[in-house]
Amino acid sequence: MTRITIPRPDDWHLHLRDGAALAAVVAFTARRFGRAIVMPNLRPPVTTADAARAYRERILAALPAGSRFEPLMTLYLTESTAPEEIARAKAGGVVHGVKLYPAGATTHSDAGVTDVRRTFATLERMAELGMPLLVHGETADPAVDPFDREARFVDEVLAPLAERFASLRIVMEHITTRHAVEFVRSARDGVAATITPQHLLHNRGALFAGGLRPHYYCLPVLKREEDRRALVDAATGGEPRFFLGTDSAPHERAAKESACGCAGMFTAHAAIELYAEVFEAAGRLDRLAGFASRFGAAFYGLAPHRETLTLVAAPWTVPASYPFGDGQLVPYRAGATVRWRIDAQDGT
Ligand code: NCD
Ligand code: ZN
Repeated sequence: MTRITIPRPDDWHLHLRDGAALAAVVAFTARRFGRAIVMPNLRPPVTTADAARAYRERILAALPAGSRFEPLMTLYLTESTAPEEIARAKAGGVVHGVKLYPAGATTHSDAGVTDVRRTFATLERMAELGMPLLVHGETADPAVDPFDREARFVDEVLAPLAERFASLRIVMEHITTRHAVEFVRSARDGVAATITPQHLLHNRGALFAGGLRPHYYCLPVLKREEDRRALVDAATGGEPRFFLGTDSAPHERAAKESACGCAGMFTAHAAIELYAEVFEAAGRLDRLAGFASRFGAAFYGLAPHRETLTLVAAPWTVPASYPFGDGQLVPYRAGATVRWRIDAQDGT
């Protein structure tokens, strides 16, 4: 197949940042996706319905003229998020999920949760109001091996939480292991997961290929080949619990290429094209539309887009960098080839 048309896809996990960084990256996503769930880990984090509304306005103002891209906002759950704030967010209509970061687990997560029990009253209200919980599923305990942090979180926190709040809708974001795939597959109704392109394309060998590769460092960190294969099976298996979430997370070059480089990979410039590579390699391009355009919308109670997006197999070379405020952004696969591109007639 050299051409594929799908309903316009959505990105159910995205970092857009703010200010000059937002202005530098938002068009990449808006060109490809109809909607995106926008992460709230700004500094300071987006913890109130009012802050989410204001952030949404800044995103809309940064869009290219004529764009119909729709940002779906999230709140950052803290131990002092009041149940009433959830009710305000629900009533306001722009907030579509509440994000749980274990404190210290990833970039800009220090305001997150240290003891999930302190959020139980808020989770109860979320379950009542049908507000989804979006989870960064890793334990932040430094004593736990980084490659085991997802599995430990699933067993010790997430599985009991899903049982305790039986009607809470839960998305385990950016799953990276076979263990998480199996948990999500066998969990009760209302539990789903997003999967990134990098975790479908690479195992942890990419971090050390010929030297230390900071642009392959994201959290949760890339895992073993057997985990990657389980993720490909889940994504291409036509199972509605697994859907697209890029976790595209831009950082300025110097913050990545550093003695203490930060976590996050930028993939928004080629996101749907990269997923097409994965589905093609699996012989399952026919299932891209479900994963990219239908299952996530259904989980969030939204209609899929009627508009379509066409991809053609016509390789192109990713630039070495993109402008990023006063600095540079090194995109995933900089200087190398991406096999699919968006059909020129699909415009912006
Ligand atoms: C994200 C970021 O940079 O905001 N980084 C990452 O490695 N994925 C945070 C996150 O989603 O964990
Ligand atoms: Zn993320």
